[in-house]
Amino acid sequence: MSESRFLNQHIQFFASSHPHEMGWKLYEYPSGTAYRISLVYLLDFLQDRHPAAIKRRATIKELSGKELDQFAGETCCPELDVEWDLSNELESDTWHGLIEIEWAGHSMHFFSFLLKSGYGYATIYQVATQSNVALRTFTHALDDYGRMRKKRDARHIQAVNGENIPLTPVSWEDIFLPPGFIEAIQSNVTAFFEGQERYRALGIPYRRGLLFTGAPGCGKTLTLKALAYHTAAKFVTVLGKADVSDKDIENALDVACSGSPAVVLFEDLDKLIESKDVSLAHFLNLLDGLKVMSGVLVIATCNEPEKLDPALLHRPSRFDRVWTFPLPALEQRLALLRKHGGLYFSDRALTEVARRTQGMSMTYVQEIVVNALLECAHEDKAPGDSDLLRSLKTIRAQRKDASKGVESLEEQDSVGFCVSN
Ligand SMILES: Nc1ncnc2c1ncn2[C@@H]1O[C@H](COP(=O)(O)OP(=O)(O)O)[C@@H](O)[C@H]1O
Ligand SMILES: [Mg+2]
Repeated sequence: MSESRFLNQHIQFFASSHPHEMGWKLYEYPSGTAYRISLVYLLDFLQDRHPAAIKRRATIKELSGKELDQFAGETCCPELDVEWDLSNELESDTWHGLIEIEWAGHSMHFFSFLLKSGYGYATIYQVATQSNVALRTFTHALDDYGRMRKKRDARHIQAVNGENIPLTPVSWEDIFLPPGFIEAIQSNVTAFFEGQERYRALGIPYRRGLLFTGAPGCGKTLTLKALAYHTAAKFVTVLGKADVSDKDIENALDVACSGSPAVVLFEDLDKLIESKDVSLAHFLNLLDGLKVMSGVLVIATCNEPEKLDPALLHRPSRFDRVWTFPLPALEQRLALLRKHGGLYFSDRALTEVARRTQGMSMTYVQEIVVNALLECAHEDKAPGDSDLLRSLKTIRAQRKDASKGVESLEEQDSVGFCVSN
């Protein structure tokens, strides 16, 4: 059955049971819009706030992920099922099936189903109402609830193989990168979340992959933290633990897919694919769409892209955009030094340190200030410029040691945002 026939069937099912002559008005929303107007929270809103408004609830027979995959290129055919099975809904971020409610004396019917095309799943939402005014007051109330939920849901990054990661408030102003770098990343991410209709109109799969590479300690993880903090979407990740497996990666994609549009973060991908229970081939298959990932933005970081199999990079459907985070230029080193040390040291000393730290990562540059302040606190004295310059020497020496195989600051940090600050 073709996608359009399937779609027509469902639209017709809903339209024929809500004839225009009887005063019904019909609307249809794709999942991106439904998320924006909080329609995805409809059932939770009703159950939490207005349980008595629900007049009828019928769920669609849900197919398991495996069953759905067997329909590759085909559509999954929903059967309306009067049993209200909560188990699926508890795991999913939306609802499927039929919900009939009464609101302000008017009937309103909501119907949602999963459309599977060759590229992926998309949930389609339909609404029938007998009163546009009532629908408007309802959607306002729903949207208020949705805003609260989005804030709540966005407070952590969901980890599929361990503790969730609380979000840290990272301001964009505190990330120092070449001019335009952050804005370009931001606009890529925003374009993804606002672009669902465009992807659909163009007939291309609604998913994207971004890869952040570059020397350790230059802001890849920090940028992820800021993105997670400032983007109102679900974030899912796999922690880089010793026992991480293919299954965890698959789970992360599934969880993101069920809450799409969503972001999946793979921190330190070069290390992840070296884990003994992770197979690169399986990972590549997943990215290529073995698992349908409609509405999923994958962002991975890696310190050494040359360690990654070229297969990961050289196929646009895997990572369509690679961002190389450069070692900081003088301007950025100075900005970081001023941010952390501006209160304690003269601008002359900070500028000198900035000049003498060419080739150092931001982690090391930051450590020069932190180390100077700690030393002074130890010695119980007010910090002065000579302490900063002394600290520069200490950190330089430490960096030399690191190149001889002693663990470096960056290595301590490079285990990803799950462990670092
Ligand atoms: N571009 C940057 N701007 C400001 N601080 C930075 C930057 N890069 C690194 N840092 C500092 O160094 C720490 C470690 O950087 P991180 O983002 O974890 O590096 P990586 O690129 O290895 O993921 C950050 O938490 C931050 O304090
Ligand atoms: Mg990192």
